[in-house]
Amino acid sequence: MDLSGKNVVITGGSMGIGECFADEFARKGADVLVVARSEDKLAKVAERVGGHYLVADLGAADGVDGLVDACIDKLGHVDVWVNNAGLETAEGFADIDRDLVRAVARLNLEAPMMLTRDILDHMLPRGAGHIVQISSMAGTVQFPGFTAYCGTKAGLTNFTESLRLELRGTGIGLTVVAPGPVVGEMWNRADYKGSYLEPALKRFKLLQQLPRIKPTKIAAHTVAAVEGNKRYVRLPKRSFYYHWLNNAPRRIAEMGMAGVKMSKPSKAR
Ligand SMILES: NC(=O)c1ccc[n+]([C@@H]2O[C@H](COP(=O)([O-])OP(=O)(O)OC[C@H]3O[C@@H](n4cnc5c(N)ncnc54)[C@H](OP(=O)(O)O)[C@@H]3O)[C@@H](O)[C@H]2O)c1
Repeated sequence: MDLSGKNVVITGGSMGIGECFADEFARKGADVLVVARSEDKLAKVAERVGGHYLVADLGAADGVDGLVDACIDKLGHVDVWVNNAGLETAEGFADIDRDLVRAVARLNLEAPMMLTRDILDHMLPRGAGHIVQISSMAGTVQFPGFTAYCGTKAGLTNFTESLRLELRGTGIGLTVVAPGPVVGEMWNRADYKGSYLEPALKRFKLLQQLPRIKPTKIAAHTVAAVEGNKRYVRLPKRSFYYHWLNNAPRRIAEMGMAGVKMSKPSKAR
């Protein structure tokens, strides 16, 4: 997809990786709309990229319902939707606050599924569009301390792979982004001396598996994946074998379903 003049919505676009997505899509000439809770930060990002913002709490149903319509009201239509807003856990699951489990499940899994559902209503009749799901290496590999987070990211990845088969031939592209640790506040909140994750992370680091990636690099690779309609962004590159092994059963199932005619979504007929 040539991104020049295209309309792009990024959830969690007020900071971190989402902010870098906003910069990179705008650099390609896209009109960007960022969504999150912090109006002050959103306003700064939107001003910098010459775009727009909407304030919404995606951890609550009333922040999710109607968001796609509100974005379409602002932009006219949406070409690219990026489900990026996310929240981590960083403690043992048996001791975790029950409200945090709900919040993580809602923001990391329920919200992207509902928003994908709603944006498809808009993209399918147009026969074009691209949806990006920001999953994680934690959707493939288990991290003690990230347990609830791992569950949501594995869910998001497999949800997207199943949807990929349903959307065959509709003109809608899907990209799953699965980074390892990224420089920024989220990882700082989990990886510090005395954290629950420290022992496991020590071993991963010893095995040279967890170099921190710059968010600008994630953004550059993701935008290139949208331009080239690529299925995956997996960084660091050295983690490829985790993803490759994890995805092998899906690839085998996909081959098994070659030529199977799934009925087209009603909105695409
Ligand atoms: N950082 C990493 O190491 C890493 C690695 C792999 C994958 N990821 C994934 O990458 C994505 C972005 O992570 P990040 O590192 O940029 O995190 P971050 O710096 O903590 O930023 C999170 C973003 O999500 C927004 N957000 C949080 N709760 C929200 C809510 N209830 N409603 C709406 N927006 C909300 C935040 O804005 P407000 O606070 O203003 O709402 C912010 O814009 C996440 O999905 C994360 O799981 C991160």
